[in-house]
Amino acid sequence: MNTLAETLINRRSIRRYEREAIADEDIDLIHEAIRNTPTSYNGQQFSVIDITDQDIKLQLEALTGQKQIKTCSHFMMFCADYHKIAVLAERKGLQMPDFQTTADGVLVGVIDASLAMMSAVAAATSLGLGTCCIGYARTAAPAAIARLLNLPKGVFAVCGLALGVPREMPDLKPKQPRQLVIHTNAYQADDERLLPLLEAYDDEISTYNTTREGTKTDNDWCDHILSYYREAMNYRMLDALRSQGYDVTH
Ligand SMILES: Cc1cc2nc3c(=O)[nH]c(=O)nc-3n(C[C@H](O)[C@H](O)[C@H](O)COP(=O)(O)O)c2cc1C
Repeated sequence: MNTLAETLINRRSIRRYEREAIADEDIDLIHEAIRNTPTSYNGQQFSVIDITDQDIKLQLEALTGQKQIKTCSHFMMFCADYHKIAVLAERKGLQMPDFQTTADGVLVGVIDASLAMMSAVAAATSLGLGTCCIGYARTAAPAAIARLLNLPKGVFAVCGLALGVPREMPDLKPKQPRQLVIHTNAYQADDERLLPLLEAYDDEISTYNTTREGTKTDNDWCDHILSYYREAMNYRMLDALRSQGYDVTH
């Protein structure tokens, strides 16, 4: 097992996997890491669907267009979940507040599910396994995916995670320098200080994209991210949230 420091510093998304299944004891450790995720108030407002059934993976691949789902050993769907607390509250005759219909309710569920996904990423990476988060598992076909995975009201797919034995080791992707990411004591919103750092990072990503191992592109960082934002504006996530019982009002 790699040290935590090596695991976090060397992690990268792995999209190609060997046919080999992940060992049961490795999956046990990943499940335990997921269970021990810090969550808001220890409310554990998340659940994970761990998918190994190849037919379900193929259907998810068809819905999302993400090949990794077909070839990975396990595909885990991380969900925000207010169903569990609602079931217990009902049994105890307690009134369930409409928390999941508030913006903070959505954020709490999304944060808990995201942290659980990161627990899985860290545990899997420390075991030498490869992972790739799949956001299209939330955005591509939310209603069809909710049906396929039998998600009850109060459960909402936040992000998928493909896990497998790595068949590639792509170059590490350059990340923003510390001065752009970490502020000391308060946000330093000096755009004249930020701009040269942002421009240098934009150039660094362009160079990386034209020289990296495997598929090359001529994207810079800014255009690439803005085109993603444009595409994401069409996702109609509020409709998807509402159909899972997250009728966000305030
Ligand atoms: C929330 C989230 C959603 C993502 N969705 C996808 C996806 O749908 N398909 C994909 O190939 N990669 C996806 N990724 C992987 C990112 O593209 C990747 O993390 C990013 O390019 C940085 O590369 P690195 O992970 O190798 O450092 C996603 C990552 C995150 C955190």
